[in-house]
Amino acid sequence: MEVIVLPSASHVGELAADIIAKLVRDKPTAVLGLATGSSPLGIYAALATLVSTGELDLSATAAFALDEYVGIAADHPQSYLSVIRDEVVEPLGMDPAKVRVPDGRADDLVAACARYEDGIRAAGGIDIQILGVGTNGHIGFNEPTSSFASRTRVKTLTQKTIDDNARFFDSADEVPIHCLTQGLGTIMDARQVILVAQGSGKAAAIAAIVEGPVSSMWPGSILQHHPHATIIVDEAAASELTLVDYYKHTYDNKKVVATT
Ligand code: F6R
Repeated sequence: MEVIVLPSASHVGELAADIIAKLVRDKPTAVLGLATGSSPLGIYAALATLVSTGELDLSATAAFALDEYVGIAADHPQSYLSVIRDEVVEPLGMDPAKVRVPDGRADDLVAACARYEDGIRAAGGIDIQILGVGTNGHIGFNEPTSSFASRTRVKTLTQKTIDDNARFFDSADEVPIHCLTQGLGTIMDARQVILVAQGSGKAAAIAAIVEGPVSSMWPGSILQHHPHATIIVDEAAASELTLVDYYKHTYDNKKVVATT
């Protein structure tokens, strides 16, 4: 696990976008894993800049969103179908036919989850998964006590997540109770993972998933077992990390090792 601590939220988005851009330049048909919520917005903004200046072409990439609310109307502005279209696919010039979101409106949700897993497999797996983290340590909507082996499935949101996400709705009562989410096993199959977090509200979760024991009580801690996971945080989100000076020292000296 590589931990990179940067001075501000905008640095976080720009570095994560640079890593993704490099991957896509090497593999224009890369399969991206997309997170929603506030955390990745800086990444999408930085990628949109690269696309608009002609430095990056994402039109041949495919993508799979992490999650979707159950029962939310497709045209609801907070459905992840709408969010992915408005914040990712259109500004980044991606092909909508190649971008999928779990179908939270399916009559048979279990079958929809199985189809989603099949789709990821058929696309050759996810090359780079973008993640945020919940204040309770969830990744995707894998809430505390999620199985490390889990695949895409129905989950019940915790009250903490409902309260955290109420800011996107008129009230907490409007936040759906259930979601479909890629499982922790699905996320761990991605060949590379970038998790971003900004702000002091994420500090406890970052400390737990980076330096705590691997525990389903902090689901993101499973990333300690991922062979290629990069955690990129601003100073505020890093404020409870015990080894913060070591992470900074390591990153400052990374180029020295890479070039010798
Ligand atoms: C979103 C997702 C969630 C969020 C997390 C943080 O697709 O899967 O894990 O990344 O809830 O949300 P924000 O970024 O809004 O703080």
